[in-house]
Amino acid sequence: MSSALSNIFARLPVSFTHGQGIWLWDTQGRKYLDALAGIGVSALGHAHPRLVAAITEQAARVIHVSNLYEVPQQEALAQRIVELSGMEEVAFTSSGSEANETALKLARLFGYQNGNKEAQVITMDSSWHGRTLATLAATGSPKAREGFEPLPSGYIQVTYNSLDAIKEAADADPRVNSVLLETLQGEGGIRPADIEYIRAVRQLCDERNWLLMIDEVQSGIGRTGKWFAHQWADIVPDVMTLAKGLGGGVPIGATVMAGKAANVFKPGTHGTTFGGNPLVCHTALAVLQTMADEGLLQRADEVGSYLKAQLTAELGAVPGVVEIRGRGLMLGIELHRACAPIPRMALDAGLLVNVTRDRTVRLLPPLILQQHEADELVSRLVPVIKQFLSTAP
Ligand SMILES: Cc1ncc(COP(=O)(O)O)c(C=O)c1O
Repeated sequence: MSSALSNIFARLPVSFTHGQGIWLWDTQGRKYLDALAGIGVSALGHAHPRLVAAITEQAARVIHVSNLYEVPQQEALAQRIVELSGMEEVAFTSSGSEANETALKLARLFGYQNGNKEAQVITMDSSWHGRTLATLAATGSPKAREGFEPLPSGYIQVTYNSLDAIKEAADADPRVNSVLLETLQGEGGIRPADIEYIRAVRQLCDERNWLLMIDEVQSGIGRTGKWFAHQWADIVPDVMTLAKGLGGGVPIGATVMAGKAANVFKPGTHGTTFGGNPLVCHTALAVLQTMADEGLLQRADEVGSYLKAQLTAELGAVPGVVEIRGRGLMLGIELHRACAPIPRMALDAGLLVNVTRDRTVRLLPPLILQQHEADELVSRLVPVIKQFLSTAP
């Protein structure tokens, strides 16, 4: 079928009419277990009554007012994020890329205000920070960058999970003033950083007066069983970025700042038309409240551990399965070869998953997932992976 849409996405041949909990229904009335949640967005699943109520309530009052005026919903959400993170101030955006773009601009402004007019940001190989030009420059994916050179300068990529790599890069360039890091890489193949490494990077940033900027766009908002994945290392970053799960499906991102990163932005230095409008902030507040009321952090931790254990029991010894890793409900199953056909095969089995970094099957189900639903997920996924591995490449 010819389409007026730009050919940006290679889409699977299915469209969904409605959802309920962890389930989605297509136009033929077929039911799918959603183990992807819109790539980590639909944290409360589909059609959660409190999410629906928050959106309709606020839509009936006022959807949007300009940031030229006070927005109480924004104040309340910022206050809540500050309480959950132990940080100090929040700037809202409409996506994860924009939240990171804001963080990268902040690193430059922080440098500028401290006499470093060419601030360099250290970022990691295999990282993913977005598709805008600056976030692409920060992103450690040669494939995503191809065709978009020249990208903005000011980004130095180093080996993930290596403190020495950061030190070496900084020794070679005294303009370094910050580090941008995912403590659990998502697009990079569900790869966790070591707790000791995260703590050591925190200490290094303190010693050198750098900003430690943590991208929690995918790993944040309860996904790993803590509000933010870096909290497993008991550290507080200077800058943290959020999006995806924060709005439960409405587009919202946030750049959160603390300590030396706070009070860097002033009126006129940055801005957004849509960022933090009453609709998205009221909705995000309802998401955070519902997650707390329903104990979804603990659920993500417990059901995630259970799911990982079941997958390990079923697949751990299967030839071709390299590793099953991740935390909470952010899990990856790495195979020994590229596995692009798996999402389509899973779709045929009534299951939504995707593949990241070519050979890691990624699971990001809604945080409302229950144990018996995790069993259902396993019973649909395991035969798909076994069938894939049993066919010749
Ligand atoms: C860690 C991380 N940062 C940033 C982004 C970009 O977010 P968005 O697609 O909302 O712009 C993503 C998206 O996958 C991500 O996983």
